[in-house]
Amino acid sequence: MSDGPIPPADLPLAARAPGKCILFGEHAVVHGRPELVLAIDLPVQVGVRLGTPGRLNGDPNGATANPYYRTALERLWAGGASLEVRVNSRVPRSAGLGSSAAFCAALAAALSAARGGVSRTELAERAFAIERAAQGVGSPGDTAAAVGGGYLSLNAPGGAEVFRFTDGERSWTARRVPDPSWSWVVAYSGLPRSTADAVRAVGVRLAAPDGPALLDEFQRVAEEGIAAVRAEDRTKAGRCLDENQTLLATVGVSHPRLEALLEAARPAIVGGKLTGAGAGGSIVVLPQPGRELDAARRIARAGGLPFVVRPEPNGAALVGSAGDDLDDPSA
Ligand code: PMV
Repeated sequence: MSDGPIPPADLPLAARAPGKCILFGEHAVVHGRPELVLAIDLPVQVGVRLGTPGRLNGDPNGATANPYYRTALERLWAGGASLEVRVNSRVPRSAGLGSSAAFCAALAAALSAARGGVSRTELAERAFAIERAAQGVGSPGDTAAAVGGGYLSLNAPGGAEVFRFTDGERSWTARRVPDPSWSWVVAYSGLPRSTADAVRAVGVRLAAPDGPALLDEFQRVAEEGIAAVRAEDRTKAGRCLDENQTLLATVGVSHPRLEALLEAARPAIVGGKLTGAGAGGSIVVLPQPGRELDAARRIARAGGLPFVVRPEPNGAALVGSAGDDLDDPSA
């Protein structure tokens, strides 16, 4: 696990951060309830060097078009020399697998390194501040995973405290949850969607009279799910995934495509749910022991794009010079 600071480094440089999948509690976490998030071994890598201002992957209007990039430059590079950025990502975009959080974390790590380095705690705050300002809504769960790596709970009891966040209105404490040594399968439905739109729609739904009771149910399921992961109880964790899916459907963010993928995987899994904002995006399933490939094949046959994933224990980190395993940044 990487828990040290990001050291100072000279441009050009490259940084990397993992994508994530949320196992329990998305949406409810925005309202301060518990979540369990897992950094996965699908990385986003950024290369940063002096160059055409605001250029992103060869697009001279990159900073105008990409709010995360623009916000990162405004917050962490004010008055600095002209930069251009190249991104290589194994995480599909707008898919609920944390591509924007990983981009914010990796870019914040690179810019902070070029400005003298940063502690990991401060990097987590910077990455959250960038994502939140660019997106307008949301919790620090995704950026905490991208900076901290591994399994992290938010606002749930037990485990060493890793980060603490506030947006002035709510606060969140991220704590370490041990890895039960399971492989997971995540799968993209092929339907992109907007996190901000889904979060706002769920906010409206939770303002209905049964909203507080629904949030209490989200909390119960997340706490039981986290306890099941801590106890390495796969059967119980699977049941909690299924219960969490029912709640997400109740607040309106499931989708027939997601349900079809979950149904297709069913014979090979102990449980599953949508992951991330929903309304499209991705699912995560917990396979029966040794049936990861079977689950992935069933999902692929039903039209999803599956990835068998393991936890990525390392959060955001520098990866040497910008030339290392990057495409030509001038392309
Ligand atoms: O779909 P993603 O990867 O943007 O995840 C969103 C998770 C939410 O709980 C819905 C919002 C948040 O910021 O926590």
